[in-house]
Amino acid sequence: MIDLSVRIKNLKFETPFLNASGVWCTTENEIDEILKSEAGGVVFKTMTLEKRVGNPEPRLYVTDDFSINSMGLPNLGVDYYCQIASKLKKYQKPLIASFAGFKEKEFYILAEKIDNADFDGLEVNLSCPNLEGKGIFAYDLDLSFKILKNLKKITKKVIGVKLPPYNDRETIKKIAEKFLQLKIDFVTLINSYPLGAFIDTKNERLVIKPNQGIGGLGGRVLKPISLAQVILFHKFSQGKIDIIGVGGVETGDDVYQYILAGAKLVGVGTRLLKGPKIFSNLKKQLEKIFREKKINKIEDKLGQLKDY
Ligand code: DHB
Repeated sequence: MIDLSVRIKNLKFETPFLNASGVWCTTENEIDEILKSEAGGVVFKTMTLEKRVGNPEPRLYVTDDFSINSMGLPNLGVDYYCQIASKLKKYQKPLIASFAGFKEKEFYILAEKIDNADFDGLEVNLSCPNLEGKGIFAYDLDLSFKILKNLKKITKKVIGVKLPPYNDRETIKKIAEKFLQLKIDFVTLINSYPLGAFIDTKNERLVIKPNQGIGGLGGRVLKPISLAQVILFHKFSQGKIDIIGVGGVETGDDVYQYILAGAKLVGVGTRLLKGPKIFSNLKKQLEKIFREKKINKIEDKLGQLKDY
């Protein structure tokens, strides 16, 4: 019997598939559709204290190979998401709140609100690339560690962190070691590569408008970058912090690669723009791989890359 279920602490996911925050998870209707699909749970659109319309359009460009976005955190505000969480509990799938502050203090106010609502877990978004004039929190390690230490005092719920890509092993090692100390339950690796651009030669302009046409790069091209982050984080955390792998997940084979790299779950971003039907395809494809390889459960293959 193939069992695709996985756990992060006390949270049980019947399948290892989630949406990547930002895609198909801004309105109650979208979240409802994810929960009705073969996804094992849902991560909400990154919520802020106030509702936001986001950046001017065009702000998203998608091809088969990649996507570039500079959405600018359009969302309906934390109070809206806290309110709908109680209605969405009926699906009995983990509800994870993604949130981001513009200032340190906002992270704490948001976390208190989320802690008091019917969410099962929190994903602290320290890696939004699209806020004009603002750096990415996760590239300031001391500030990030301080925020997370304080958040751990505010909530006892399952807590994870969404990180951007890093360029050196030492930084990933430092973060993994600190997260073990802070008792972070999971990491989501990775957010979009922060600086992506593409030019439409016919019109001789960049394909998106905000932020000088430069936005977060996602999709298929992200997978080799993300796999390396997962492999290193899994190694440096000694497999003790659960990983949600995000970046270029399109097929069961992609999911299997992430499992071997050390990710227990995967998040689907760019490819989910075509709709939540992807989750039933991923399930069928991953089950086929497991059948052929005679694998019963994900944990048997987690981080089990062979040596040369
Ligand atoms: C947005 C993009 C991100 O990659 C993210 O983590 C949060 C928000 C956005 O532009 O809306």
